[in-house]
Amino acid sequence: EKGGFPSFMEKEIFDQPAAVADTLLGRSDAEGRLTLDELRIDAEDLTKINKIVVLACGTSAYAGQVAKYAIESWCRIPVEVELSHEFRYREPIVDKKTLIVSISQSGETMDTLMAVRYAKEQGAKTMSICNTNGSTIPRESDAVLYTHAGPEIAVASTKAFLAQITATYLLGLYLAQLRGNLFSGQIKDILADLGKIPAKIQDILDRSGEIKELARSMADASSVLFLGRHVGYPVAMEGALKLKEIAYIHAEGFAAGELKHGPIALIDDGQPVFVVVPSPRGRDSLHSKVVSNIQEVRARGAKTLVIAEDGDNAVKDFSEFVFYVPETPTLLMPLLATVPLQIFACELATAKGFDVDQPRNLAKSVTVE
Ligand code: F6R
Repeated sequence: EKGGFPSFMEKEIFDQPAAVADTLLGRSDAEGRLTLDELRIDAEDLTKINKIVVLACGTSAYAGQVAKYAIESWCRIPVEVELSHEFRYREPIVDKKTLIVSISQSGETMDTLMAVRYAKEQGAKTMSICNTNGSTIPRESDAVLYTHAGPEIAVASTKAFLAQITATYLLGLYLAQLRGNLFSGQIKDILADLGKIPAKIQDILDRSGEIKELARSMADASSVLFLGRHVGYPVAMEGALKLKEIAYIHAEGFAAGELKHGPIALIDDGQPVFVVVPSPRGRDSLHSKVVSNIQEVRARGAKTLVIAEDGDNAVKDFSEFVFYVPETPTLLMPLLATVPLQIFACELATAKGFDVDQPRNLAKSVTVE
C-alpha cells in the first residue's frame, strides 16, 4: 500500500503532482471560467462579503497564510488568518458580511470545529476547505470545497497542504471572477500556470536525490532555521514544522525581514539556514531583499541552504547549497518551494532511524481541545 516507498510520508510527497492536479480537475471550463457551483453559497452573498477570516491549525494554517497573499492580491478583500484556538478566546469581530474559511485535512480538528461553530453563532458565512468527505467540519459549514489529495496516512501533512493551497487559489480566483476584480484573461492565465504545476512538482521529485544527500549529511544538526519573505514566509514555517515533527530537531521559521529585529543573534559558525528565495522575475525589491538576507547570515557564519528559481544566478556565490525549482509566478511558488523542504525533513528523520509516519507524541487528527 506504500507503493514501493519506504514510508507513507514519502509516498504522499510523491503523490503531490496528482494531489494538485486532482484538486484542480473539473473546477474550471475551457474558457477559463471557474465553476465552483458545488459551493452552495449564494453568489450574491459572496459578492457582499467584506472580510475573510481563515481558521486552521498547524500546517493547514500555513496554507491559510499563503492564501492571504493570493486572495488579497486578486480580490482586494482583507484576509485575516488566525489559529482556531486563538480566535475563540478573543472577541473576534465577525458578522454576516464575514466569510469564514476553515481549512482542515481531517475535518475533525476540535479547535477548528469549535471556532467555526462560534463564528456561525455570530452570523458569519462558513466555508470549509477539507480533504475528508463527510467529516464534521464540512457537515457543519454552509459550504465546502473539497481538496482531492486522497487519504493522507502519515501524521505529518504533505500532499494535503499542497491541495489546500491549490483550493484556496481556486476560491480566490472564483471570488475575483464573481466580483470582477480580475479580467477573464487574467484568470485564464493564472489557471494555465496552475495547470503546469503538477509537471513542475514532478521535475522536483525527479531530482529529489540532491536534497536527500544534503539531508543525510545533516543528520547531526541540532538546530535548523528557515527564512522566507512574502509567500516564502509560510513556506519557511512549514519547512521548520516538518523538521520538528518528524526529526525532533529544533527548527524555526522566520520572516526574513525580522532577522535584524532579533533572530540574527542566533546565527553563529555553521548554523544551517534555509532561505526561500522569490523569483528574480517577480517584484524586483522582493528578490534582492532576500538575497541580501542570505549575505547577512552568511557573513555571520551561517551555512546557507537556498531554494531558488531556475536561472537565478544571484544566489550562487552566497550559498553552500542551492536547490532550483522551476519558474512560476511568485504567488504560486509555495506549491514548488515546499516540496524540497518536505523531502529534506523526511530523509533526515529516516537517516536518524525514526518512524516518519508515526512521530512521537502526535496524532493524525486532534479531536480534543
Ligand atoms: C502538520 C500536521 C498538523 C495538522 C493540524 C491540523 O504536519 O499534521 O499541524 O496540520 O493538526 O490538522 P487538520 O488539517 O486535520 O485540521
